[in-house]
Amino acid sequence: MKKRVRGFSKLSKGSKIEWLSAHYFDHADRAREILEQYWNADEKLQRLHDEFAENTLSNFYMPFCVAPNFLIDGAAYALPMVTEESSVVAAAAKTALYWRDRGGFQTQVLGLKKVGQVHFLYHGDSDKLKAFFDRNQDRFLKATADLTQNMRARGGGITLLDLLDKSDLEPDYYQIFAQFNTVSAMGANFINSCLEELARTLKREVQQSPVFTAEEKDIEVIMCIVSNYTPECLVRAEVCCPVAQLTDVPGLSPLEFAEKFQRGVRLAQVEPYRAVTHNKGIMNGVDAVVIATGNDFRAVEAAAHAYAARDGQYRSLTQVDIRDGQFRFGLDLPLSVGTVGGLTSTHPLVKLALDTLGNPSAPDLMGIAAAAGLAQNFAAVRALVTTGIQRGHMKLHLSNILNQVEVAEEERGFFVNYFKDKAVSYATVRQVLDHLRRLADEGFIRWFFTR
Ligand code: HMG
Repeated sequence: MKKRVRGFSKLSKGSKIEWLSAHYFDHADRAREILEQYWNADEKLQRLHDEFAENTLSNFYMPFCVAPNFLIDGAAYALPMVTEESSVVAAAAKTALYWRDRGGFQTQVLGLKKVGQVHFLYHGDSDKLKAFFDRNQDRFLKATADLTQNMRARGGGITLLDLLDKSDLEPDYYQIFAQFNTVSAMGANFINSCLEELARTLKREVQQSPVFTAEEKDIEVIMCIVSNYTPECLVRAEVCCPVAQLTDVPGLSPLEFAEKFQRGVRLAQVEPYRAVTHNKGIMNGVDAVVIATGNDFRAVEAAAHAYAARDGQYRSLTQVDIRDGQFRFGLDLPLSVGTVGGLTSTHPLVKLALDTLGNPSAPDLMGIAAAAGLAQNFAAVRALVTTGIQRGHMKLHLSNILNQVEVAEEERGFFVNYFKDKAVSYATVRQVLDHLRRLADEGFIRWFFTR
């Protein structure tokens, strides 16, 4: 109970830190020091970041990286990627280079439809409500006209309105199911505003209509909300080349590699435990681009995984086809992203990321993020079915382990060299370090690892 606090949101940043330090840390000064260490010296910039979220105490750095050499639909890109995981960017960059010489990535937007729903309860004649809704669609569109005006001017807006009887799922449950084209905006706020207006219109129109009974007029709106499941806001990314061009895989002929690779992907088509890890690898690339461009990676993740399970079993989002001597590797991904609005116009690094990409439209960004996901999956599966993942991944993770065990700058070169041809793990690094320090302590090696 001592830790209960009221009015916390109204405290200044300094007082919030003081409260946290006093209640949760034995060494309050140390906690404050760490939080303050991450403040930006530019007060205006810091205020901007403080206001992205609530009760902000400090900044949480994520590496802002770049993966060069992507050729996507004939255009060259250096992909901005934000990730904390080692080897993700290296893997993307390595794959980009590999496919650059083999025609690059081709992408296709298969749909741009986004969905929002007004969920409500209606106690009455289902057919009557449906007929009324269909007859009066223009009133719903008119009621939202002010809200949709700018979007329509850009070529988007509400593209479909339907009334769905869902009472087989939950008693008296109905929906206004609406589809939207939000052009280059992610559009969640726009969709939610439209839905709330649609809900108000529904209640008003039904109440004013003489065809409904008193009970039927008593519509209870439960919620109005965008759906993050966007199976019709879909992008396809592919790479394709003659099997004979799948060279540069040590120890395997191009055909052997193609078949091993295909089998690796097929396992993720049929086996959910493998599929989840496989798709996580795809999202390593997708999320990194989505975050760098200021988009909502939780929405993107949720949609991707729901789509992966759309036939009732969770499966790989990528597939491989080997036919007539051609190797084709593709990814279909629901991807709702925006390149205007939200963080895209306020966060300086997001702006820089979009500039790096030549300020793409949302459909273009869908293709770019999907290409990053496909590249990532190619790198991971290639490593998994050949050398194993640990060699490349841990080679790059070595620096994190060296930080963890506090290896000094001048000692690092030794470890990088030592582990060039050995498996890296926390335990082995620790073991080698302890051994060397012992030798140094005992005077066998004087010049090295002395503390
Ligand atoms: P390599 O062949 O040993 O690397 O691969 P290299 O040193 O010969 O360099 C080749 C190229 O790789 C470089 O070209 C870079 O493009 C890139 P260059 O720039 O020299 O002309 N590269 C780097 N880029 C930036 N910084 C670096 C760096 N090193 C290489 N330090 C590599 C090494 C890690 C790339 C390779 O082994 C690989 O792709 N491994 C797969 C790694 C991976 O998938 N990581 C994701 C995390 S693991 C995971 O979470 C997903 C998983 O579980 C998913 C699944 O199960 O499906 C695996």
